[in-house]
Amino acid sequence: MILLKDLYQNSKDYSDKQIEVSGWIRNNRAQKEFGFIDMNDGSCFKTCQIVYEANNLDNFKDVQKFRNGASVNVKGKFVLTPDMPQPFEIKAEEIILLGDSQEDYPMQPKRHTREFLREKPHLRVRTNLFSAVFRLRSEVAYAIHSFFHERNFVYVNTPLITSNDGEGAGQLFGVVTNSENPETDFFGKKVFLTVTGQLHVEPYAMAFRNVYTFGPTFRAENSNTQKHASEFWMVEPEIAFADLDDEENLAEDMIKYVIKYVLDHCPSEMEFFDKFVEKGLIDRLKAVLNTEKFARITHHDAITILKNSKENFENEPEYGGDLATEHEKYLTRYFNGPVFVHDWPKDIKAFYMKLNDDNETVRGSDLLVPGSGEIIGGSQREERLDVLLKRMEELGMNEATLDWYVDTRRYGGCKHAGFGLGVERLLMFLTGVDNIRDVLSYPRTPNNCDF
Ligand code: 4AD
Ligand code: MG
Repeated sequence: MILLKDLYQNSKDYSDKQIEVSGWIRNNRAQKEFGFIDMNDGSCFKTCQIVYEANNLDNFKDVQKFRNGASVNVKGKFVLTPDMPQPFEIKAEEIILLGDSQEDYPMQPKRHTREFLREKPHLRVRTNLFSAVFRLRSEVAYAIHSFFHERNFVYVNTPLITSNDGEGAGQLFGVVTNSENPETDFFGKKVFLTVTGQLHVEPYAMAFRNVYTFGPTFRAENSNTQKHASEFWMVEPEIAFADLDDEENLAEDMIKYVIKYVLDHCPSEMEFFDKFVEKGLIDRLKAVLNTEKFARITHHDAITILKNSKENFENEPEYGGDLATEHEKYLTRYFNGPVFVHDWPKDIKAFYMKLNDDNETVRGSDLLVPGSGEIIGGSQREERLDVLLKRMEELGMNEATLDWYVDTRRYGGCKHAGFGLGVERLLMFLTGVDNIRDVLSYPRTPNNCDF
């Protein structure tokens, strides 16, 4: 059996040859004496056209009725069609129905709303949009692994069940077998799904120097926005003997690497997004790729820019405050591309970020990009034992449960930094898809876990 991917890549080799393919019918247009099946076999984004004729097929009358969604096996002649919109077609000599599709198959070629498709996450992958999104997702994961592997990073698998709140934001999902009493429950204490792999990966950076985790994270954040999911994937590198500049350089190199990777390796998908999801997407990404250096500003300067703008923001920008989506949007427009915002007020950032000498700000850095806003949150870590302990005390954190983490500062601690990239946010940035629910296979959001 031959794959469509191969037929597209090596069309000339198959000219006028007998071939056999299997796939799913996207569309079947039956005429009186002949018909056309548009078939996708999953091996690539593109479909191929199968032409069938009454005088070529014993079961012509059956084939005419084959429904969209059905799986078929086709034998026939491969013919180059240089004068047609598609480069080749298959002239069928045998078409066998492998798996029938019922009449109410919902993924008909007409355009469905994204909301409708979200109710059918198990079937929507057979549409063009989701076929493109999820193949790209796979390629992006591969690109990220390649990026770090080429740079000698060690890939660490950190746990999903943990007894700590890594970000200290209280957005934890509990894990229980009996919800009555944590002390008599499975782990003898309260445990949770992890919100970040960072705390567990930092000790590995003190052994392997440069490391990363890549896994699912969970947040019980009750924000019903287009950018928040309750279960999402994060890539978290951690680098030793490194400061905030090194961290931002690494993040920038990684983003550029991934953009270049998808432009080089996923042209069909990227052209589809450019044409049907966001016009001008490829040019936008190329512009980012060709930016010599992403803008880098302090949070203080970012607020000043926002305050000086003539915009009528719904949320007043505050020197001590977080950036709202509208602020992020303004800043990426202002800089006409991605921008790192660093040195944030300590009160709105996590306990592990390095305190600046002003005692007010920390060495945190968020990367904002056009469209998706914050896609990366990172920082230089507080490596000074006394300062870290003082900060944890100030925040009323239970030091005993994080004593193991603090050990990294007790035994050979060193300057280090890292970041977390939200994989779905990156995918939204790369595809132009504007809702996180459409880049997750089975999205989990508040009140939504049906599949
Ligand atoms: O900024 P965050 O909270 O940073 C951390 O978790 C650090 N521990 C990372 C580190 O330094 N190792 O999250 C990192 C990124 C965000 O920039 C965003 O892209 C994504 O994770 N993210 C979410 N994506 C989807 N849904 C949510 N609810 C998200 N929360 C964060
Ligand atoms: Mg953040």
